[in-house]
Amino acid sequence: MRSINCLSHLSLIAGLAACVNGDITASGSNFSLSGAGVSYRFHVDPRSGDLISDHFGGPIDDFTDPATISNSGWSTGLDNVGTPGLTNIRREFPDIGRSDFRLPAIHISHANGDTVSAFTYQSHEVVQGKPSLIGLPATFGKEGEVTTLIVRLYDNYSDVSAALSYSVFPEYNAIARSFQITNNGTNNISIERAASFSTDLPNLDLKMLELQGDWSHEANRVIRNVDFGETGFRSTEGYSSHVHNPFFALHDPTTTETTGEAWGFNLVYTGSFAATAERFSHGFVRVLLGLNPLHASIPVGPGRTFQSPEAVAVYSSHGLGGMSRSFHDLYRKHLSRSNHTFETRPILLNSWEGLGANINESSLENLAQETAELGIKLFVMDDGWFGTAPYARTNDTAGLGDWTPNPARFPNGLGPYVDTVDSYSVANSTNDLAFGIWIEPEMVNPNSTLYHEHPEWVMHAGNHVRTLTRTQLVLNLGLPEVQDYIINAISNIIDSANISYIKWDNNRGIHEMSSPAADYAYTLGMYRVMDNLTGSYPEILWEGCASGGGRFDAGILHYYPQSWTSDNTDASDRLTIQLGTSLAYPLSSMACHVSKVPNGLNMRNISIEYRAHVALMCGSFGFELNPSELSDEERSAIPSILSTWEKINPIVISGSFYRIAWPGDTNWPAVQFVSEDTNTAAVFAFQQGAIIKPAAPPLRMQGLNATARYTSNAFNGTLSGNTLMNGGLNLPWKLADYQSMLVWLYKE
Ligand SMILES: *[C@@H]1O[C@H](CO)[C@@H](O)[C@H](O)[C@H]1NC(C)=O
Ligand SMILES: *[C@@H]1O[C@H](CO)[C@@H](O)[C@H](O)[C@H]1NC(C)=O
Ligand SMILES: *[C@@H]1O[C@H](CO)[C@@H](O)[C@H](O)[C@H]1NC(C)=O
Ligand SMILES: *[C@@H]1O[C@H](CO)[C@@H](O)[C@H](O)[C@H]1NC(C)=O
Ligand SMILES: *[C@@H]1O[C@H](CO)[C@@H](O)[C@H](O)[C@H]1NC(C)=O
Ligand SMILES: *[C@@H]1O[C@H](CO)[C@@H](O)[C@H](O)[C@H]1NC(C)=O
Ligand SMILES: *[C@@H]1O[C@H](CO)[C@@H](O)[C@H](O)[C@H]1NC(C)=O
Ligand SMILES: *[C@@H]1O[C@H](CO)[C@@H](O)[C@H](O)[C@H]1NC(C)=O
Ligand SMILES: *[C@@H]1O[C@H](CO)[C@@H](O)[C@H](O)[C@H]1NC(C)=O
Ligand SMILES: *[C@@H]1O[C@H](CO)[C@@H](O)[C@H](O)[C@H]1NC(C)=O
Ligand SMILES: *[C@@H]1O[C@H](CO)[C@@H](O)[C@H](O)[C@H]1NC(C)=O
Ligand SMILES: *[C@@H]1O[C@H](CO)[C@@H](O)[C@H](O)[C@H]1NC(C)=O
Repeated sequence: MRSINCLSHLSLIAGLAACVNGDITASGSNFSLSGAGVSYRFHVDPRSGDLISDHFGGPIDDFTDPATISNSGWSTGLDNVGTPGLTNIRREFPDIGRSDFRLPAIHISHANGDTVSAFTYQSHEVVQGKPSLIGLPATFGKEGEVTTLIVRLYDNYSDVSAALSYSVFPEYNAIARSFQITNNGTNNISIERAASFSTDLPNLDLKMLELQGDWSHEANRVIRNVDFGETGFRSTEGYSSHVHNPFFALHDPTTTETTGEAWGFNLVYTGSFAATAERFSHGFVRVLLGLNPLHASIPVGPGRTFQSPEAVAVYSSHGLGGMSRSFHDLYRKHLSRSNHTFETRPILLNSWEGLGANINESSLENLAQETAELGIKLFVMDDGWFGTAPYARTNDTAGLGDWTPNPARFPNGLGPYVDTVDSYSVANSTNDLAFGIWIEPEMVNPNSTLYHEHPEWVMHAGNHVRTLTRTQLVLNLGLPEVQDYIINAISNIIDSANISYIKWDNNRGIHEMSSPAADYAYTLGMYRVMDNLTGSYPEILWEGCASGGGRFDAGILHYYPQSWTSDNTDASDRLTIQLGTSLAYPLSSMACHVSKVPNGLNMRNISIEYRAHVALMCGSFGFELNPSELSDEERSAIPSILSTWEKINPIVISGSFYRIAWPGDTNWPAVQFVSEDTNTAAVFAFQQGAIIKPAAPPLRMQGLNATARYTSNAFNGTLSGNTLMNGGLNLPWKLADYQSMLVWLYKE
């Protein structure tokens, strides 16, 4: 046993005495993980060796007796060592088959056919810092930033060991957990269910908030009661998906954006997943977040180890806003590996709206030239540049998989063409235009050279029909030869031209799988490819995308600093999508563009200022339109949009984010940023519809210094932080639909 005590008590965060140097106390087999505003406690039951959950919430200083439950009925389960029925106990790593009737965190199928497991405590150790997960994305940190407790369990009956890893990031009230299962026996076993995070909360009335949606309709808040039985959701699409995000919050029914308790849970994984809160008859709430059991059945041979993905849990006593800011700061500092994470991202223009797939060198050069003249710094060539006749990518029926420039369109390859683009000087900038491309490397069209050479490389199940979606199939990235093919093909493109940005798209779910475990193997293979390419080309700005926000998850954010938030670029819809996404993910990681009006999806007509304000609240700002179709009014607004970007982007990249009012709750949604040095705040305020009455509520800010005084573009003189936060500003809205304002506050 090693006991590591708090090393310093340096900082006061939100008035709470904070232990900022990492704190795990292992007193015997009583474990306490502490952060600035969180305690996480569990212990080993001395009679049975089971791990018992004690507390996950605000700071506490002692272990206390568990709730009394009358042991009667079927759930008594006294065994030969006198252990009370496990179903009445709050468990930390529930297995299956021994008097616990709830869902397990670990479910193993053994060679003899049974699925009973009996994991009991063996040993533990505390390590400073955080060991990495082999082959999987995870949070990271050095000694002093994070401390890790590893608890080893063993199942004597089936010779399987488990190593649970708990890392506490004290500054962010965050606990990351993952585990390994090692097969110490001589027969194969199969992992049927693996919840990366599992804990049993006491009998509390809780709501579950999750993000539900679909293509162009991502990240809508859904709030349910955590009732008796199971409350939850899952993705079976092979990816994290648009339909549900691998994130949820549990919160008290009275919790708001700024007050009350909230627990956030997020899986650092891009494959199928399942999220469940199970409330049993005694009212305890079991939290489970991990692999989708339908896409598990992962074989583990003798001597082999299964590594679960990591899940991150965050506790906030300052409402959902506090929870989100913990995720944002943790993810920017301790999840995203890219050097671009804390850099401003260049304003870009994407060729898709202007040219579609109908591109050639001369039309692209014209568009690139217009881009540079507008003062935009990065020109992105979208779909349509690759494939060779008869499979040239001139429409979406051919070419995916053949990652070489179409010789009919780029007779000299990409290199000389990109040199031309690079030679355009950007208006009002010392830079020349930079160049980026779009790719979709996990996919293949049957109309491709690759598919004709390697039909066995696609994900398929025996002789079952290989169902097409968008006329394409999914390559099986679980196969090392497929991983190597993609690494080589994309490396060759990058080596051939001066490419500074890559948008990595993925436009369909996985249907026929060779086995349920193929999704886990695929996901690890995809991570290997992303790890390799971002490792080989760290100077490239990589952006994730999956038909919009279909893979906006913490796994991708480990490798890529940003993701495309939605294919829906209507600014009003985007407010809902971006605020929903912000529950778990930082605004600095969102890519958001201004597109033409009327909007191509919903025909809505919104001013360029409003469209820009919505897109400027994201880390990666850009335009997705044809500059030659801009109206005079729109064109003349661009210089001021660019100068606003200069001011706001550094604050979006590294500042703190506050949701003032949600679009679903009010006609006057608003969000706010506070700069990292706290001297500047910026509020994006919106009026959705023109309504005669009632009046707009005062815009009450958050996160300001109560006693400091602020100057602003929105009022003369100064106002105090208290006035702005408790009184608020009444903005002079006009009687018109879709109005927006950007209010700046400068601390005196
Ligand atoms: C663990 O906590 C329990 C409950 O407070 C206490 O009785 C026990 O002595 C503690 N064990 C150790 C080794 O600290
Ligand atoms: C597991 O087996 C070992 C060796 O047989 C024994 O010492 C230990 O008490 C067993 N543990 C449990 C929890 O049964
Ligand atoms: C189980 O196997 C792992 C990996 O070989 C080894 O580190 C561990 O000590 C073994 N555990 C037991 C209890 O044999
Ligand atoms: C374990 O599974 C592998 C792969 O299916 C098989 O080759 C091997 O014979 C199995 N081993 C045992 C001990 O059953
Ligand atoms: C390039 O595309 C444009 C627009 O489709 C077309 O007008 C032009 O003729 C094409 N040029 C070449 C060289 O193919
Ligand atoms: C779509 O692309 C294929 C392959 O390049 C081509 O043969 C076909 O004519 C194209 N279809 C249309 C409608 O342009
Ligand atoms: C292959 O391309 C041809 C020509 O464009 C098209 O008719 C056919 O539907 C395509 N096949 C698939 C599977 O997309
Ligand atoms: C990527 O893979 C290639 C080919 O296997 C290898 O040569 C290279 O070292 C790898 N790069 C990184 C950063 O892993
Ligand atoms: C990224 O940052 C690390 C750490 O600051 C530095 O060592 C490395 O050189 C940087 N890489 C690039 C490509 O800038
Ligand atoms: C460039 O700067 C000049 C002077 O400030 C300004 O008038 C012009 O609108 C700017 N052009 C662009 C494209 O931003
Ligand atoms: C808040 O502002 C006051 C007045 O300017 C200043 O004295 C104080 O240090 C500030 N507090 C913080 C936490 O920055
Ligand atoms: C500030 O005062 C000037 C002069 O009275 C007035 O014209 C202007 O509208 C005021 N600005 C605001 C934002 O209230």
